[in-house]
Amino acid sequence: MATAPAAADTATVQDWAAEVRHLAAERNAVILAHNYQRPEIQDVAHHTGDSLALSRLAAEVDADTIVFCGVHFMAETAKILSPEKTVLLPDLNAGCSLADTITAEDVRAWRAEHPGAVVVAYVNTSAAVKAETDICCTSSNAADVIRSIPEEQEILFLPDQFLGAHVKRVTGRDNIHVWMGECHVHAGIDGHSLRERVNSEPDAEVYVHPECGCATSALYLVGSGAVPEDRVKVLSTGGMLSAAEESTADKVLVATETGMLHQLRGVNPDTAFEPVNSRAECHYMKMITADKLLTTLRKGTGEIVVDDETAARARRSVERMVAIGTPSRGGE
Ligand code: 13P
Ligand code: SF4
Repeated sequence: MATAPAAADTATVQDWAAEVRHLAAERNAVILAHNYQRPEIQDVAHHTGDSLALSRLAAEVDADTIVFCGVHFMAETAKILSPEKTVLLPDLNAGCSLADTITAEDVRAWRAEHPGAVVVAYVNTSAAVKAETDICCTSSNAADVIRSIPEEQEILFLPDQFLGAHVKRVTGRDNIHVWMGECHVHAGIDGHSLRERVNSEPDAEVYVHPECGCATSALYLVGSGAVPEDRVKVLSTGGMLSAAEESTADKVLVATETGMLHQLRGVNPDTAFEPVNSRAECHYMKMITADKLLTTLRKGTGEIVVDDETAARARRSVERMVAIGTPSRGGE
């Protein structure tokens, strides 16, 4: 019986990966992994991608079970879209600091202050919050979701203040109210770190996730002429992968969770991808370990349960999200 790889021993990793795939086949399970997962988890998964790509895959895959290597709201979204499937999360404590900034009661109270407003929720929210909203979005389709709503309509956007500011900027809408939540990992990649790195690497391209505290600074650097416009791209994790595949740059500075670097380096070995902040690690994402994945596959632990009524109300909002925007990356 394989044990989980404790160190980077190739034979051990191969044995572990073979056992993971064997157990998955026995369960007729598909393993989905987010781009921020540990490298060995990304590599063993059937599909790795951003939130939108993984949601679309969860709705489409032909399997009895989805083993979701990501965080709780992502696994819940998979369950909402595929209620007939068993969805397993290898550690049910893998949460999200951003999702924790708003409750269903907060949404009801906010809506009551703005009767008639459309409520747009970033997918980084609990099922109970999604059930109170009109349409969900991810970072790869947030602007398209806003554009799908009539121009004159008042909008409540939750819960990420930096993504909210970004969609306001790119859509030019001024009737969007933004919830002041933030992700502790991305908020920590601030304008100061970005300016320092950009100044020390004047020729590098810069990829910035819109949840970052530095997204505004990145656009300020462009606006002030300190960095040429074509060097800075604000992108979802899937958008970063597509840009990386085509990049001819010698170096790209990456402002997001550091797990992303594994995928970026894999799709373009000729470009050096370096973090803007090497401490930007999401400990929730890293709770999914090689050992826990094996245990889940062996014992069926970590089942996600969403009550039928909440799931049905949340599903309308999530299905609208899945229908909007171009397919983002979710690779083999
Ligand atoms: P993406 O939708 O870009 O994959 O981001 C998900 C996330 O949790 C960012 O922190
Ligand atoms: Fe949540 Fe931030 Fe972790 Fe993404 S990186 S899962 S937003 S805590």
